[in-house]
Amino acid sequence: MSRDRIQVPKGTFDILDEDALAREILTDTAKRILEGAGYERIETPTYEATELFARGVGESTDVVQKEMYSFDDGGGRSMTLRPEGTAPACRAFIEHGMHKRPLPVKLWYLSSFFRAEQPQAGRFRQFWQIGCEAIGSEDPAVDAETVLLLHELLQAMGVGGTRLRIGSLGDPATRAAYREELQVHLRAHEAQLSGDVRGRIDLNPLRAFDSDHPGTVAVMRDAPRLVDRLEAADREHFATVLALLDIAGVSYEVDTSLVRGLDYYTRTVFEFTSDRLGAQSGVGGGGRYDGLIEQIGGAPTPGMGWAAGVERILLAGQRQPVAPVPLHLYVAWIGDEQRPSAFSIAAMARRTGHSARLELAGRSLKGQLKQADRAGARYVAIVTEDGVELKDSESGDQRAVEPDEVMHHIRQGML
Ligand code: HAM
Repeated sequence: MSRDRIQVPKGTFDILDEDALAREILTDTAKRILEGAGYERIETPTYEATELFARGVGESTDVVQKEMYSFDDGGGRSMTLRPEGTAPACRAFIEHGMHKRPLPVKLWYLSSFFRAEQPQAGRFRQFWQIGCEAIGSEDPAVDAETVLLLHELLQAMGVGGTRLRIGSLGDPATRAAYREELQVHLRAHEAQLSGDVRGRIDLNPLRAFDSDHPGTVAVMRDAPRLVDRLEAADREHFATVLALLDIAGVSYEVDTSLVRGLDYYTRTVFEFTSDRLGAQSGVGGGGRYDGLIEQIGGAPTPGMGWAAGVERILLAGQRQPVAPVPLHLYVAWIGDEQRPSAFSIAAMARRTGHSARLELAGRSLKGQLKQADRAGARYVAIVTEDGVELKDSESGDQRAVEPDEVMHHIRQGML
């Protein structure tokens, strides 16, 4: 009796065939754009102390309240599979004394992240993000430049139907005062609000702007707006960011109630959506987090960055034709005595930088030649008890060669 089949966990997926190739193209494209702009790759551990996300991302966020995969590390310490990459990058910035490097320190990552969300199209429990963080400069040019880099990446990947929304959250003090003002407004209209929003007036009143509950939407129409309360310096910072985007010719919509699901944002916040995606239309977003590093124990240091969902970029993007890696040599062989010779020809080919494949499943010679043809092998070495025949599939030329001269002939032929 066969046993029950074990399946991939809910909200996760395998990456196969064309998907793997499409991801490679995305990786190469991101690398070209981000490293071209001076970003260096960073990889942090898959899990971190739970405290990092609780303090960094914010206790009141959905991510921390409901979506973390936390576990005991065996020694009584709570660890969490990283739900996002900004807090870990900032932790690494502090830990490695990166403030001594030329600022801003520019880091990029392509890693998988984990959130215990209800899976749906474009929303997974393990998903990948490409992200970048520029740490150590308040200059509004950093904000505009990072937005442009994401814009360039989305364009390069053929992501269509995009919209860029951008706003400013000001500094923590303005935000705190505004928060109180908003709470007063929400309490004054409590009866009209959805239960969810009502329950969050104390914890996270800003999330009320996110609601599509009709009563709440009506209340929010007259709600005070943070952009109208910004300090002069923050207003000016935001105006400069927008002016730089204008110069770059990127179109955007200023969204006065743009809410992001993470608490560390200050000043600029932005998000790209694509109408090619369903309900989960956010392709990528980010913003400035000038208080985060201090929040997690470092010296006050400003930062700005974004992350974009790999799956969403691929869903909304144009599939690009993928050129397979060319196969230089296929080594066919029959009879157990020929195995060592065939094996050594393939090894020799690889040592000299050529791609080679070796028959590994005991196919008939006819079957092997079919495989070689299907794989598009330029040369086929056929090893039999009578010696080695080398066939050039381009010219049709076939000749007997010495086993240790196979590569010599191939090199000559491929010149
Ligand atoms: P986020 O908006 O939470 O930001 O995530 C960024 C992107 O990751 C989203 O726009 C979406 O494309 C993708 N994403 C998020 N959750 C899922 C999911 N469950 N399944 C599939 N894709 C998902 C951040 O994570 C911030 N760390 C961005 C940042 C960097 N801010 C400053 N620096």
